[in-house]
Amino acid sequence: MGRIGYFGILIIGLLAFMGSTEAHLKMGFYNKRCPKAEKIVNDFVKQHIHNAPSLAATLLRMHFHDCFVRGCDAVKSLVEAECPGIVSCADILTLVARDSIVATGGPFWRVPTGRRDGLISKSSEALSKVPSPFDNFTTLQTLFANQGLDLKDLVLLSGAHTIGIAHCQSFSNRLYNFTGIGDQDPALDSEYAANLKARKVQNYQRQHYYS
Ligand code: HEM
Ligand SMILES: *[C@@H]1O[C@H](CO)[C@@H](O)[C@H](O)[C@H]1NC(C)=O
Ligand SMILES: *[C@@H]1O[C@H](CO)[C@@H](O)[C@H](O)[C@H]1NC(C)=O
Repeated sequence: MGRIGYFGILIIGLLAFMGSTEAHLKMGFYNKRCPKAEKIVNDFVKQHIHNAPSLAATLLRMHFHDCFVRGCDAVKSLVEAECPGIVSCADILTLVARDSIVATGGPFWRVPTGRRDGLISKSSEALSKVPSPFDNFTTLQTLFANQGLDLKDLVLLSGAHTIGIAHCQSFSNRLYNFTGIGDQDPALDSEYAANLKARKVQNYQRQHYYS
């Protein structure tokens, strides 16, 4: 698993501010009404990431996907037991994403809170707004622009992929069959492509000879 570089702080900081046009975000929004909220989240994350480090990337990605559809609203969580109805799911997911990265040895960044949860969730919107691995660069820029994010945001936020995994089906067409004639995507760095192809052979050997 890779490490998030120090500029990851910048990267995720951007997501932390997305959706801030509707709610007024600030540091320690729950300090008075639920002072233990951030600690509860942090303790839970530290405990679970310790047992399953790969969860860190999954949780960070979940935060990104959540933000791209009607702002950052999210799933229900454990903070309810301490302070019923006070802390938004969106804030919890944002804190979880940060704490997961910290717990795997990545950088720390400050997360302002005060997000409000949305009441609408549509799978069709998730499909149309969240970028797909098969989108070209122009489409990625458009999808980011739809969220008020520019080219620099796109490049920096993509740095989140320093951690985590991708399944072969998400990118194998770019290695083996980009236009349907058994070719490689000419835009893909050739050294990187060779590296990925070699890893495929290793995985194949592992599955067929060693297990
Ligand atoms: C620029 C548009 C983006 C595209 C097209 C994209 C696409 C993808 C794809 C295809 C995967 C692999 C999924 C799989 O095969 O299982 C992935 C994984 C991941 N993405 Fe993105 N992504 C984008 C932006 C982001 C952003 C902005 C973040 C967070 C700030 C992010 C965080 C992650 C993480 C952490 C993983 C690894 C998940 C894991 O290991 O479980 N991505 N992304
Ligand atoms: C990018 O993809 C879109 C949608 O599939 C397509 O309309 C557009 O022509 C593509 N642009 C480039 C530069 O390939
Ligand atoms: C490559 O893509 C073409 C067109 O989509 C398809 O007909 C062909 O079976 C693919 N080749 C392989 C090896 O998957």
